[in-house]
Amino acid sequence: MARVFVLNGVNLGSLGERRPEVYGSQTLRDIEDLLRGEFPDVELEFRQTDFEGEFVSWVRESASSDGLVVNPGAWTHYSYAIHDALEMLSVPKVEVHLSNVHAREGWRRVSVVSPAVDATVAGMGASGYLAAVRYVLGR
Ligand code: DQA
Repeated sequence: MARVFVLNGVNLGSLGERRPEVYGSQTLRDIEDLLRGEFPDVELEFRQTDFEGEFVSWVRESASSDGLVVNPGAWTHYSYAIHDALEMLSVPKVEVHLSNVHAREGWRRVSVVSPAVDATVAGMGASGYLAAVRYVLGR
């Protein structure tokens, strides 16, 4: 059975109540349920943390999996530690953002993690996670 890590970073545990006009009304649990429904044959490691070091250790743990989907939240824009952890990985890896970061504040247009991933999805809401998991599975 394929194993895919889906890692969510800082503040993403507040989805549903956090700026629904930007991030939608779905909670992280709703997104997890959506993925589990869509990929019943995949072992999903769906996780969230507000601690950067924990996120980095999960990125490293995903080296033994078949693929990684990350939404690092605000860390996207400044965490070289997450960039470096992603850079070491040889499994397929995709960066996802619920919102269209390119249509928002200038600082959100910069992703320091993008150079270390295979692809980026932004602005598709929860569907972006579906597309990213499909990509890492090669489907
Ligand atoms: C986000 C975009 C980031 O700029 C923001 O800090 C987030 C969520 C997104 O999914 O759209 O926390 O990664």
